[in-house]
Formats: sequence, C-alpha cells, structure tokens
Amino acid sequence: MFDLDDGLRIPIIGAPMAGGPSTPELVAAVSSAGGLGFLAAGYKTVDAVRREVDAVRALTSAPFGLNLFVPGRPLADRAAVEAYRERLQPLAERRQVVLPEIVDFDDDAFDAKVDLAVERAVPVVSFTFGLPPREVVDRLHDAGSAVVATVSDVDEAVSAARLGVDAICVQGVDAGGHRATLDPDAEPDPRSTRELVEAARSAVDLPLIAAGGIATGTDVATTLTAGATAVQIGTALLDADEAGTKPAHRGALHDARFTDTVVTRAFSGRPARGLVNDFITDFDAYAVAAYPQVHLLTTGLRAAAAASGDPHGLALWAGIGYRSARSAPAGEIVRDLWSETP
Ligand SMILES: Cc1cc2nc3c(=O)[nH]c(=O)nc-3n(C[C@H](O)[C@H](O)[C@H](O)COP(=O)(O)O)c2cc1C
Repeated sequence: MFDLDDGLRIPIIGAPMAGGPSTPELVAAVSSAGGLGFLAAGYKTVDAVRREVDAVRALTSAPFGLNLFVPGRPLADRAAVEAYRERLQPLAERRQVVLPEIVDFDDDAFDAKVDLAVERAVPVVSFTFGLPPREVVDRLHDAGSAVVATVSDVDEAVSAARLGVDAICVQGVDAGGHRATLDPDAEPDPRSTRELVEAARSAVDLPLIAAGGIATGTDVATTLTAGATAVQIGTALLDADEAGTKPAHRGALHDARFTDTVVTRAFSGRPARGLVNDFITDFDAYAVAAYPQVHLLTTGLRAAAAASGDPHGLALWAGIGYRSARSAPAGEIVRDLWSETP
C-alpha cells in the first residue's frame, strides 16, 4: 500500500479540485514530478471518473489519488431553499436559465464511486464533506488503497483516526474551495492551517497532510515544521497549463478588480472560499445551508456565466494565496515550490 509518510519524493500533493480544474493531465504532471496528484470525483458520473482514472494510468506509472464527496443528510428545510430559488429567479430570467426543481437528496453516486475505486485499486482514496463508513475503509484497504480523511478541526481529526484511515488531511480556514467540515452547519474553526496542524499533531498519531493558503516555499517549510508530512496545494495549481480551470476563473486570479476572498454558501449551500464577485455580493446574505440542493440550483447559472466568460456569475474558488498562482506547467510549479522551500 502507498506510504503517505515516506512514499513521496516531493511532499507536495496536488489538491483534488472538482468542477473542472483537476484533469488527468494535471494529476499525472504532479505525480510524475514526484508529488501526488489527485483526481476529483465530485459532481461527475461514474463513467467519467473511470475514464479519468484510466487516463491517468495511461499518462504515468506514478501513484495518484482519487477524492470522493461523502453524502450528507436529506434536505431539512425545503421552504428556505424555495425562498432562495425565488431570490435567484430574476437573475435566471436575465440569463435565460431555467432553475431546476429542488431535490431532497443526491448522494453523488457515492457507492458506485467507491466500487470503482476498489475495482481499479486506486493507490490513494480521500474523502471530504464527511467520514466514510468503516466498511468502505476496510474494502479500500483490502483492494490495496491508502485512505485519507479530510477534516477541518481537531475533534474531526480524532474521529477520523478512530476509523482506521492511513492519513488525515487537515484543512485550515485559509483554503480555497469548499470547507471539508463534517458538519456543514458548524462555524468554521478560525485557526490558520499551521495552527490547526500543530493542534492536530498533538491529538492524533497519523501522517497529516496540511491544506490551505500554502503558496510559497516559506509556507511549505512552516507547515512541515508544525508537524505535517506533506502539504496539499489547490489554488497554486489553478492556473497551471494542464488544469481545466475555466478561462474567466484563471483571469480573475490575476485581475486587479478581484481583491479579496470570502467564505460563502451562496453558490452551493456549503461554506466555500472564493474571490468576491457580484454573485456573492448579491446573494451571500440570503444563502441557505442546504448542500447539494443549492449547488444544483445554481448549476445552470454558473454554466451560463462560464460560457459567456463572465467572472461575476461563477464560483471563483480560491484560497488566500491566490495572487501567487502561476501560469506554468504543473510539474514546474511543484518542483519550484519545493526547491524554494528553505
Ligand atoms: C477550485 C477548487 C476545487 C476544490 N475541490 C475540492 C474537491 O473536489 N475535493 C476536496 O477534497 N477538496 C477540494 N478543494 C479544496 C482543496 O482540497 C484544498 O483543501 C485547498 O485547495 C487548499 O487550499 P489552497 O487552495 O489555498 O491551496 C478545492 C479547492 C479549489 C480551489
């Protein structure tokens, strides 16, 4: 089984980034450079994920990972989502988008994606938005996969360790994209990634992968010194040549009009960090805690904005280090980050 504590030539992991950025080419480039690339299974069909796993294997013999979303609870407050739908309606009409009906539950094909990971014996499988059932951890171990649970506070890290996972990804509040928090209603732990790693280090005896706001060699060094085995970078790879990041998203990372990031539920119903744009300014105050219902509700709006190249209508997920994102081959980004680590 892949050893996360000792198996990496470069202790830098390419974060799974659902919604387009994590292509097989990006994953293979990070892994071939000596780090560990991650495919993102979230939002995709099982067939699409299978094609991506096979595509990575065709591009590299190096180990890689696959990340799955753990399903949450059925919708609790339909009226709140209906009210949010009404708020979005005028924008939908302007964009000529039909808002879909609200669903009670969507599990993102979790069981079938686990079956696929087992069938393809993916070297590393990570989970976010929740802890996988113990039976899933056991099946993956039997298939030879190392298992990583993603958490956003120390109590969650302790629960993950009890489950028998092989490593824990500790995500700090600075991270781009969705918070991994097991309880989407909980207030985020305000600690920086480094502080959270220090706290988790004294609570659990497993390799820790640190994610959130890591953009420079100094960030890498401080985080490893705090007790992490490896760092996980997302935003730093968003503008990589091999990434599937939408052009409007790439552009915003370097656009002087986008000056801040914020954590919002406006796009998906789950807290996530992105660059402040008009959609967040207009709807954050009304957003409701209902994932994936809100995600599904805004899918057409986001797609329309992306198609027209409008950075104000799509989710510009980014961590606080977004200005350091470089337009370069991913292998070069990973190698340079490691070589500039003091
Ligand atoms: C565009 C984007 C998409 C993301 N999608 C996922 C995902 O599918 N699964 C996951 O576990 N984390 C996801 N994340 C979070 C990353 O795993 C990681 O925690 C984060 O990128 C680290 O912070 P940084 O962006 O400041 O480097 C995403 C992050 C971004 C920026």
